[in-house]
Amino acid sequence: MTADAAAESLTVADPDAMHALAARVATQLRAGDLLVLTGELGAGKTTFTRGLGEALGVRGAVTSPTFVLARTHPRASGAPLVHVDAYRLTDAAELDDLDLDLAASITVIEWGAGLVDAIADDWLEIVITRPPSAADVDDPDEELAEPRTLRFRAVGARGTELLAAIAPSATF
Ligand SMILES: Nc1ncnc2c1ncn2[C@@H]1O[C@H](COP(=O)(O)OP(=O)(O)O)[C@@H](O)[C@H]1O
Ligand SMILES: [Mg+2]
Repeated sequence: MTADAAAESLTVADPDAMHALAARVATQLRAGDLLVLTGELGAGKTTFTRGLGEALGVRGAVTSPTFVLARTHPRASGAPLVHVDAYRLTDAAELDDLDLDLAASITVIEWGAGLVDAIADDWLEIVITRPPSAADVDDPDEELAEPRTLRFRAVGARGTELLAAIAPSATF
């Protein structure tokens, strides 16, 4: 993982580096924290969340929750990791209907941008982009490691605090 000061972004070389970044983020997280993950299909949102889950020591593997809107991963001690895929949600009211216990959980919402405003005041958004050269989704070599670019947007006091601890110069 390398910081690019000029572009105010982080470059994450491969899935292992994505896990390492997630592990670094995990050390900062506590109950009540909310991360919003933005990026096209295959960007690495679930890969990041899997790294987070491993670092937090959750029970059960973190997988793509595409057919389950929200999955709670308990931990032996500490707040559970709640992993939400908001891809199929059409409006913020549907997110509200999930009745997420934000205060008691560490919550990660894939595709949450534009929806979380309805349920939270503080969060850190991580925007993951693939380079233009990245293989097509239906390319057989899709699983090849390729760099990703990460940018961050802090909302509210806690979002700002998290960003300062994680990647102070990588904002957008
Ligand atoms: N630098 C990288 N960071 C994260 N994932 C990567 C990287 N390079 C390749 N990949 C691969 O890209 C895919 C990302 O898939 P996934 O995390 O499910 O994306 P999303 O949840 O954003 O749709 C995985 O197969 C992962 O192994
Ligand atoms: Mg995903």
